[in-house]
Amino acid sequence: MGREAARRFASRGETVALFDVNAQGMAETRGNLAGIHCWTVDMTDFAAVCAAVQDVEHKLGPIAGLYNCAAIMPFGKLLEQDNAIIHKQMAINYGGLVNITQAVLPGMLARGHGDFVSFASMAGIIPMLMTGGYTATKFAVTAFTETLYHEHLNSGIRFACVCPPAVATPLLQQGKDTAWPKMLDEAGPPIAPGTVIDAIEDCLDKGRFFVFPTRNAKIGAIMRRLFPGLIWKQVHQVEGF
Ligand SMILES: NC(=O)c1ccc[n+]([C@@H]2O[C@H](COP(=O)([O-])OP(=O)(O)OC[C@H]3O[C@@H](n4cnc5c(N)ncnc54)[C@H](O)[C@@H]3O)[C@@H](O)[C@H]2O)c1
Repeated sequence: MGREAARRFASRGETVALFDVNAQGMAETRGNLAGIHCWTVDMTDFAAVCAAVQDVEHKLGPIAGLYNCAAIMPFGKLLEQDNAIIHKQMAINYGGLVNITQAVLPGMLARGHGDFVSFASMAGIIPMLMTGGYTATKFAVTAFTETLYHEHLNSGIRFACVCPPAVATPLLQQGKDTAWPKMLDEAGPPIAPGTVIDAIEDCLDKGRFFVFPTRNAKIGAIMRRLFPGLIWKQVHQVEGF
């Protein structure tokens, strides 16, 4: 989804800085778009993130928009997942958000404008069986982003917390390679990355904080709030345990 957003912005003539551990992936994202610039950064390394942000602002100018997309998604039952993997996904999915926030947001606040887009997930709204480690990271992302938004109301920054259902990106393969809840197939085919980026832009324009890119995602969020027991009943039925 970061690739989709980056290429879209660069095609409109905007300058884009990518941070990723995957240099080859970033080169593919850049392709022939001269407006895309790449930094090989591990989002869990706060000093490296701060240094890269400084370098971006020095070379390209102040950061006007941030899309925090970095994540991993290994699945499995909580007692069967490797201890280090559970901690690693929290360090990337949640820790990376903490790091980029503290590196970028103070500058945006000082300038009084900017777009701050944080990728949570429907997994940050509805817990399921076999996704607990990942879901915990996304609940953390949702809580952090929601608090951040409320700590900076009327700051001039437009905040968005993005909660997509399954999206057709390489991330899904990580789930499939580890453990795959049947519930994720029940929800229908994965949506296109562009649908999510469209929904983000629409919500930013309308001043909506939570981005639910599909009608079913919106309904899921309401169901979770009103009838969590009903969702758990269905989850147990579908998974068969
Ligand atoms: N694909 C889905 O079904 C889905 C659904 C809901 C939410 N999301 C969330 O949306 C966001 C984008 O996901 P995506 O589907 O585009 O995934 P993706 O796997 O296509 O992209 C994630 C990127 O993060 C990078 N990354 C991983 N660890 C890193 C680290 N330590 N430092 C820097 N970069 C690192 C990867 O190299 C990869 O390029 C993620 O936060 C994900 O959790 C995805």
